[in-house]
Amino acid sequence: MDGTEFYMGDIISAKQYDREKIEYLIDLANKIETNKEEYKTFLQGKVMAALFFEPSTRTRLSFESAFAYLGGKIIGFSSAGTTSVKKGETLADTIRTIANYADIIVIRHPKEGAAKLAQQFSNVPIINAGNGSQEHPTQGLLDCLAIHSLKGTLDGLNVGLIGDLKYGRTVHSLAYLLSNFKINLYFISPEQLKMQHRVKDALTLKKTPFKETKHFKETLPLLDVIYMTRIQKERFADLEEYDKVKNAFILGSEELKVVKSDAIILHPLPRVNEISPKIDKDPRAKYFEQTYYGLMMRKALIASILSKEI
Ligand code: NCD
Repeated sequence: MDGTEFYMGDIISAKQYDREKIEYLIDLANKIETNKEEYKTFLQGKVMAALFFEPSTRTRLSFESAFAYLGGKIIGFSSAGTTSVKKGETLADTIRTIANYADIIVIRHPKEGAAKLAQQFSNVPIINAGNGSQEHPTQGLLDCLAIHSLKGTLDGLNVGLIGDLKYGRTVHSLAYLLSNFKINLYFISPEQLKMQHRVKDALTLKKTPFKETKHFKETLPLLDVIYMTRIQKERFADLEEYDKVKNAFILGSEELKVVKSDAIILHPLPRVNEISPKIDKDPRAKYFEQTYYGLMMRKALIASILSKEI
């Protein structure tokens, strides 16, 4: 396969994606899903390095699973504690080295500038799997695939992003991506955790309507997509501040009564207590199904990047 039409380069920010690219990736994810056999050896001989300097379950394992299902091999670490970072090695030197051992690097790091820095020092493609509280573009893309698959469209929806909109990186990337569609956004958060200005400024430029509110229960009946998030405890400098907001919004059986019958409930996971396990069996609860879209989208992203070299 020539594949040059697939090539998308590094994935650093969700701002790289316009409507056409998002739709292309959704189509490719579905195409790979329906032709699994054909793609089984797609990445034969390729190696992915997964460098996780922060905890992860779904992101790391779905990247690894995606790469393995496409026939490639995986190296990496899930904690910097066992690497030379512990001896004082810089991120630049770590990246320069690993770029010699892999065809693609997936990196999650607590520093906002990490993915960009890795890009500067790598001669293989870099995928940002979360840079501090700034962005998580591949999660946003899998969320778009989930919404598209479950609602049949990304247009004409009222989407509520709920919880920690300040430190939650997934909602930043998702908001950037959804601004390519005809969508109404509702940002529901405590005062201290309002959506970051850089995201709101980007939405204003794109003329994407958004409304900020503290009123969770009153807004719920309007929503087609309810995107819950965890309050990001690890980003708080003062744990007393965390305690004040940790139970700000909880979606349980009572709250569900006012939710539209065809709405969908998403969450990037892990959840702490913002969604009661009591509603897990409700047909609107799609957060575990959502994790499967992670595998599908990550296969599409990896294939689109590496097919140039195949
Ligand atoms: C999120 C993350 O790491 O940003 N999880 C994920 O990748 N699915 C959300 C979170 O940690 O709350």
